[in-house]
Amino acid sequence: MLFSRRDFVKTSVAGAFAVGMKTPALTDSKLDAARDQEASGPYKRPIIIAAHNGFNYLDDAFAFLKGGGDTLDAALRVVQGPENDPNDTSVGLGGLPNEEGVVELDACCMHGPTRRAGSVGGVHNIKNVSLVSKAVFEHTGHVMLVAEGAERFAVDVGFPRENLLTDHSRKIWLLWKEFHSNEDWWGPGLADPHWQAPGIPTKPQAELWKERVEHLQARAAQLGIEPERQMEAVRKVMFPPTGTIHCSALNEKGEISGCTTTSGLAFKLPGRLGDSPILGAGCYTDQDVGSAGATGSGEENIKVAGAHTIVENMRHGMSPHEAGMDALKRIERTYNGDMNKLRFVDMVYYVLRKDGAYAGVSLWQGYSEGHPHTIAVHDGTKRPEVTTSLFQGWSQDFPPEPNVPDDVRKQYLK
Ligand code: GLY
Repeated sequence: MLFSRRDFVKTSVAGAFAVGMKTPALTDSKLDAARDQEASGPYKRPIIIAAHNGFNYLDDAFAFLKGGGDTLDAALRVVQGPENDPNDTSVGLGGLPNEEGVVELDACCMHGPTRRAGSVGGVHNIKNVSLVSKAVFEHTGHVMLVAEGAERFAVDVGFPRENLLTDHSRKIWLLWKEFHSNEDWWGPGLADPHWQAPGIPTKPQAELWKERVEHLQARAAQLGIEPERQMEAVRKVMFPPTGTIHCSALNEKGEISGCTTTSGLAFKLPGRLGDSPILGAGCYTDQDVGSAGATGSGEENIKVAGAHTIVENMRHGMSPHEAGMDALKRIERTYNGDMNKLRFVDMVYYVLRKDGAYAGVSLWQGYSEGHPHTIAVHDGTKRPEVTTSLFQGWSQDFPPEPNVPDDVRKQYLK
């Protein structure tokens, strides 16, 4: 490693200034277009909205919903897809693990018609935590179960225990350990030909970053990560993601439900809970109003109770777009609009009103240029839709690392 984490922190503010902060502004024309779209009701029902990684599972869930299936079961059909997919590193089987290499899952759900809710957090060894969150309200008088108790409950009601750490996620975790290897005993030791003495950087930042990315990619290759997935692994190590899936579903009768499931922030401290298992933050549904959910920086969303805030905003007359934008502005307010902090935060809200009006809104346009945030929508036509963002520009993921010079990002991190 070329410089220490302390050096990163010292250089991060200067680096952020060096790149030049984009002006945070949702252009009037964009907001007007969003409002026009909303004003064009009546809206279609049934409808399902989900995070982008639910896209491939919408057809089946929509057919189920149209055939009279329950709204929560329809939403659970969507989120189970990524939970069961070993190649989706954001959730369930194959989710990126905590800092000890253990996959630790969170989920919650709300059933509008019966006003029931369930939640589980910090669960090991059980893939479909979204279904376990439903089982909590079906089989107990509780709302939330965590950690070992939640795992034992899941096994008691019939969920199988299984190893959730795929070889691919384990290798990304090992790469992450080595990323910090000048601070611990992981990675090349003194006797290893690849060992480099930590030193005071003497080269320009761009060159150091280039070397750093190349070094990580070389290690990814040595760890056996397939060539086409090496840069994706490097990006996940440099910018640990908070991948998650939310889904809300509304039927023709106006019944509505929602659920959110995640493996949480990659490489988190064991025991860390984000927003996904928190009813009112990662997901909230009120049969009288609508449903909302979140993917993104869990810590920030908990502080603004994002999903509940959005539903309450709609209850008081805001449109789905306005309701979501207001919640995003509360995140902006958390940091008094300080872009040097807000650029390390990101959030996508999925908002569905009881009459079928919906919105996808985000703090930033996406994680990196050319990769805008999208929501997956099915109302008879399945499609991705780009979110309306509060800020123009692209976020970096939490935790904040120093700015990666744009030319290095373009060359290596796409
Ligand atoms: N939004 C998912 C998490 O922060 O855990």
